[in-house]
Amino acid sequence: MARARAGGRRAVTLLKTVKLRKYFGDTRAVDDVDFVVTKGEFLSLVGSNGAGKTTLVNLISAFMRPDSGQILLDDKDITYASVDERLRAGIARSFQLVNLFDDLTTFDNVALSVFSREGKTLNLMRLADHDQDVRREAEDVLAQFGLAAKRNVPAKGLAQGERKLLDVAVAYALKPRLLFLDEPTSGVSTRDKGQIMDRISAVVRAGNVTAVVIEHDMDVVFKYSDRIVAMHQGAILADGPPDEIRRNPAVAANVLGLPAAG
Ligand SMILES: Nc1ncnc2c1ncn2[C@@H]1O[C@H](COP(=O)(O)OP(=O)(O)OP(=O)(O)O)[C@@H](O)[C@H]1O
Ligand SMILES: [Mg+2]
Repeated sequence: MARARAGGRRAVTLLKTVKLRKYFGDTRAVDDVDFVVTKGEFLSLVGSNGAGKTTLVNLISAFMRPDSGQILLDDKDITYASVDERLRAGIARSFQLVNLFDDLTTFDNVALSVFSREGKTLNLMRLADHDQDVRREAEDVLAQFGLAAKRNVPAKGLAQGERKLLDVAVAYALKPRLLFLDEPTSGVSTRDKGQIMDRISAVVRAGNVTAVVIEHDMDVVFKYSDRIVAMHQGAILADGPPDEIRRNPAVAANVLGLPAAG
């Protein structure tokens, strides 16, 4: 699929879903969705509460099985691959509600993630401090996310914005090619949102990681995205660059909650 992107580089499809479906009783959470992620882009997935964003990410990251349809990564069918297989293939995600080990330090949360990527077990975690490579890598990830000064603080002792960043850092430490972030700025002040997104976008762009971010704050979305996909009632309502999405009347009515024009 050839789609022009900012900077004029040729667009290469990294992931796509084909008629992906997940219903919960009468609720069509994801309704035959064809969703495309292009290599290297920073993509935002938007939509009002209940639009189906988290369900779509749950299906792609194997936390839920679809009723029907396909998920292709590099044209390979991963529809029924396990979470571990998808991780090895390069897909990682963070959660809408943070998913940290509260009693472990900031450093240990990241080191554990590096360890788990290497296929090592939880029992080996206390060796993290002795494993120079893991330590160096964890320190590097903490520094990239601006959390180095908090390395010895238990996750439960961090401020909300720092917890959200740590959650992203833990997913990033899995070294994904494709990183899904489910509301990385939820529950933090508007000022903190900007700082968190500055940090996340700088890290993923520097690391050449393709990112799909679910976000409600449209100021954030318009500022950071290469492309925006808007969902409504389980279907894709609009898909395009920020300028186009900003002018889209269906998005204004169904996502931004503005009255329909004229
Ligand atoms: N495990 C589940 N069981 C039953 N219904 C579910 C389940 N998960 C999601 N749903 C329903 O599916 C629809 C889509 O939910 P989803 O969580 O994907 O929306 P969302 O776009 O992430 O919303 P939000 O912005 O509020 O996080 C909603 O109607 C929701 O109530
Ligand atoms: Mg959600």
